[in-house]
Amino acid sequence: MIAPPLRYRPDLEQPQPDEAETDASLEKSFDHILETTAADYGRAVRAVHAKAHGLFEGTFTVHAGLPGELAQGLFASAGCYPAALRVSTNPGDILDDNVVLPRGIALKVGQVSGDRLPGAEGDSQDFLMVNVPVFAVPTPDKFAGKLKLLAATTDRAEGAKVALSTVLGFINSALGKVGLESGALAGMGGSPQVHPLGETYFSTVPFRYGDHVAKFRLRPLSASLTALTGQIIDTSGRPDGLRETIRKDAAGLTGEWAFEVQLGRDPDRQPIEDASVEWQEDEAPFVQVATLQVAPQDSWAEDKVRRIDDAMHFSPWNALVAHRPLGGINRARRRAYRHSSDFRVAVNGCLLSHDADAAS
Ligand code: HEM
Repeated sequence: MIAPPLRYRPDLEQPQPDEAETDASLEKSFDHILETTAADYGRAVRAVHAKAHGLFEGTFTVHAGLPGELAQGLFASAGCYPAALRVSTNPGDILDDNVVLPRGIALKVGQVSGDRLPGAEGDSQDFLMVNVPVFAVPTPDKFAGKLKLLAATTDRAEGAKVALSTVLGFINSALGKVGLESGALAGMGGSPQVHPLGETYFSTVPFRYGDHVAKFRLRPLSASLTALTGQIIDTSGRPDGLRETIRKDAAGLTGEWAFEVQLGRDPDRQPIEDASVEWQEDEAPFVQVATLQVAPQDSWAEDKVRRIDDAMHFSPWNALVAHRPLGGINRARRRAYRHSSDFRVAVNGCLLSHDADAAS
């Protein structure tokens, strides 16, 4: 039997006394990554998820008639919103696509109304997700330790990046899906590249969901997307092979993703402060509350690169009060995302845009 959803209470979060120190350590590592890559590329790129493979504009439709526990915050009533989507890969440097790493999707739902978190920009509700269900480490201090190592490999050989990613535990989970072991991957210097548009993306960390708490996931729904699940893209000799293949496919793609919510039910079984614990689906099922749709488009059009890749700032803290990011990992993200995007503005001199509708 599924337990009733947990009620949100501020004391579900348990901030640790050393979080300011962790923030400072993260900032130092990010500065190293940002400065190294800016010197290499002659322009600033994101400190993490620097390389984008596809940019989309679409519509985010909140379903009508959701039951009370799901009709919360942005999802309280039916609605249609403009959406912008950036598909990326996780390191802060721009690597050959032959290096297999976790993929990310940043989704900006625009023209959202409701009380906003202090410092939240524009009028969007942002959702950032990766194609693995759990975060590699439980807490931000552990992440800061790993990031120090990662910062040290920025600007080094891509082989080192593969090895490090294996150490970080990123690759094992991604590889589970294609049935290879990380040892085999390191030996081959690469592995089959699954199509990013066929993947399922997870928030991995929890958020307030109005009266409750939840994790989120974005799952391919239409046959046009599920047909891409597990499809291998040949990236040998094609450093931007993922971008090229996505662009070719996007030109004829009418796609639908299910946006799903997983309500937390038991603070011990679905912890808020430990990002490495997967919330088991048999105890906390995912339920679809919205649909994300895209029509055929150019996923690497020059103006879109300018507006979404260069100028858009995605952050889990660009959010409604009703969807406040929760837990230590999320608290550490507040300052880190701002810091990284401020660096882009300072170096590139571009004005960042926070509105999904500004992308149209
Ligand atoms: C302590 C933990 C984390 C830190 C410090 C961190 C930091 C960052 C930073 C600095 C950026 C670049 C922001 C910018 O320049 O605009 C970024 C981007 C991103 N992060 Fe995180 N992150 C963390 C955890 C996560 C988690 C849990 C997820 C999702 C499961 C995630 C997904 C993403 C994605 C998808 C992007 C790309 C955003 C875009 O396309 O603009 N991150 N992260």
